[in-house]
Parts: sequence; structure tokens; C-alpha cells
Amino acid sequence: MSDGHNKIDATLIPGDGIGPEIVDAVVEILDVLGAPFNWDRQKGGMAGIEDGGDPLPKATLDSIKRTGLALKGPLTTPIGGGFRSVNVRLREEFGLFANVRPVRTMIEGGRYENVDIVLIRENLEGLYVAFEHYIQIDGDPHAVAFSSGINTRSESRKISEFAYKYAVKHKRKKMTIVHKANVLKALTGVFLETALMVAKDYEGVIQTEDRIVDACAMQLVLHPERYDMIVTTNLFGDILSDLMAGLVGGLGMAPGANIGPGAAIFEAVHGSAPDIAGKGIANPLAVLLASALMLDHVEHTETAEKLRTAIDLVLKQDKIRTPDLGGSATTKDFLFTHFSQLLFRGTYREHSI
Ligand code: NAI
Ligand code: MG
Repeated sequence: MSDGHNKIDATLIPGDGIGPEIVDAVVEILDVLGAPFNWDRQKGGMAGIEDGGDPLPKATLDSIKRTGLALKGPLTTPIGGGFRSVNVRLREEFGLFANVRPVRTMIEGGRYENVDIVLIRENLEGLYVAFEHYIQIDGDPHAVAFSSGINTRSESRKISEFAYKYAVKHKRKKMTIVHKANVLKALTGVFLETALMVAKDYEGVIQTEDRIVDACAMQLVLHPERYDMIVTTNLFGDILSDLMAGLVGGLGMAPGANIGPGAAIFEAVHGSAPDIAGKGIANPLAVLLASALMLDHVEHTETAEKLRTAIDLVLKQDKIRTPDLGGSATTKDFLFTHFSQLLFRGTYREHSI
């Protein structure tokens, strides 16, 4: 939806921990870059709880319903007890069935020079339905823990079709279907079976192979250049995408997009990093790269490319990096001193911070 100035309404959730310090800085960069977004700032996670007792306030949901588009910082989820993951709830609420997680080598001299993989993770089913319960024995309430996963033919088909369409659109060559159908024969077998059915429609266009998840994890570490695109179930996708982030310099380099019929929500793969929150040293690249995916999504591809090129140039030429990448730059140094100078060739100074 746009206003009279061709602006695109988008929801902005700064999030928890390092979220606000990164997201606010990235939004300033986007504004100066001339990105088309008209931000509607909303709360979520701990920030939502502190404000009105709700980690996913109605105002935030209403905003995303209206805009269909959001940039989101990480949201803290307590482990074990406490409220249900807001991220999972958002995915369910808007039917965000596809999670797109691209990684590529951006820093030379790292472990690998030529990683360029896009992982498509099924986002709504599998073990993440969290259909869990305990059985009490002899006074121990947690004597036995159960968890059931659900994968359906229809969602498996939807995510596979999404992955192959993505592959064609982005001129990719090969799809690896990742599963554990040798052990979880029903749960991940239905996914494999369905993905292979969809693969038939792309024969001659996209090459298809399948891998068992553990073997895939090892091969990704030994020979990441053999992978082009991966399509997999929810939990495996979560784990492998963090592994892939590690191949290119860590979680600070990995963006993600959650896509569905009701909305598209863009975020970093990383969480709220409570260990470094407030120190001003968080790596803003993952959120910046997520915003480039968001620009692609609204078909402002030129602006997205400009952003990505500038990121490559800063990392390659200036060697300015945040501590997670072995440098000593703060978030603001990185973005406002080095990155913005390169991106705007001095014009950014007019918009002083
Ligand atoms: P995390 O991703 O927040 O942190 C893992 C490690 O990576 C930490 O050492 C952290 O300092 C580092 N790290 C992460 N992002 C970084 C960045 N941009 N720059 C520099 N270093 C960075 O994972 P963790 O600690 O497991 O989770 C913390 C909280 O975040 C939890 O409450 C979790 O539920 C939540 N979370 C939220 C996500 C989301 O909103 N999409 C995704 C993952 C976790
Ligand atoms: Mg994760």
C-alpha cells in the first residue's frame, strides 16, 4: 500500500537486546539511500511485555495486517517456560510458510572463498508445531517428555514449489532436498516424496539431489561450494542455516525472509544477543542484508543492489569490521563513518546524525 508519494507502508519492529541499536541505524541508512518505506514503528517481544504485558500486541498485528510488510529485529524468547515464541506466532498468524536464508562469502581470506547458498526452510510445520507434553512418574513431573511433529503433503508441496520457482527466478542450477527419511520415515519421508514429485516438473531446468541431514551438515563444512540451493523441513532448516552462517563469518552475516500469502517479514537469522546488547558493537550487516531482501521483494532491485555492492566494498576495501568479524569497529563506526561515506560519497554528511 502506498501514499501519494509512492511510499510503501511497512511495519518496523526494533525488537529486543541488540535489535533497537541495529534496526534504528539501518533505518537511517535506508532513509538516506532513498528506500521507499514509510515506517510504522511497533513493539514486540520483551519490549511489548514491558509496554502492555503482551509480547505480540494487537497494534503490532494490526499494523502488519495493514502493511503486509515488516522489518523486524530479534525478539527474546525465554527458554523452557514463559511465553511461546513470538516469531513462531507471527509465522502462524500470517501463514509465513517460506523462510528464505541466503548466505554468501563476503569476507576474503576466511575459511571459504566461494560460498553462495540459498536455503529454503519450511516455516510452519515439522517439530515446530510444538505439540509437546510430559508424563509424570513417581512424583517427577518431567519423567517422560513427548513431542510430535506434523508434515503435510500440501505444505510440503507448497514449500517445494516455492523453492523451485525461486531457483528459476534467481537463475540457480541445483536443488538439494534435505531430510532424515531413513529414520523419520513418515514425518520427513512425506516431505522427501513430495519434493521429488515437484522436482519432476523442473527436470532439465534445475538439477535435483537429496541428502540425509547429518551427511549434509558434514558436507556443508567440507565442501560448501557443492551446494547451490537447499530445501528442507523446519528444524533442519533452522540448524543448517546457522551452520551456513558460520561458513561465511557468523550470524552477523545472515539475513532471512519469512514469506506467506498474508505478509512478508524480513529479519536477521540471529537473536537478540543479550551478551553484547547495549555495548554498541553488534554487527548490523544481517539486518542490513535483510533490508536488501525487503527491497528486492518490493521490486526496488536497483537500490538493493546498491546496498549489497556497498557492503562488499566496505568489507573488501576498508576492512572495517565489528568485533564478531575480528575487527574493532562499533555499529555506528561501521555504518555511519565507513559504510555511509562509501555509499553516498559524502552526501550523507548533510543528514547528520
Ligand atoms: P543469538 O543469535 O542472540 O546469539 C548467539 C551468539 O551470536 C552470541 O554470542 C551473540 O553475541 C552473537 N551474535 C548474534 N548476533 C550478532 C550480531 N549481530 N553481531 C555480533 N554478534 C552477534 O542467539 P541466542 O543467544 O541463542 O538467543 C538470544 C535470544 O534471541 C533468545 O531469547 C532467543 O530466543 C532469541 N532469538 C530470536 C530470534 C528472532 O527473533 N528471529 C532468532 C534467534 C534467537
Ligand atoms: Mg534459529
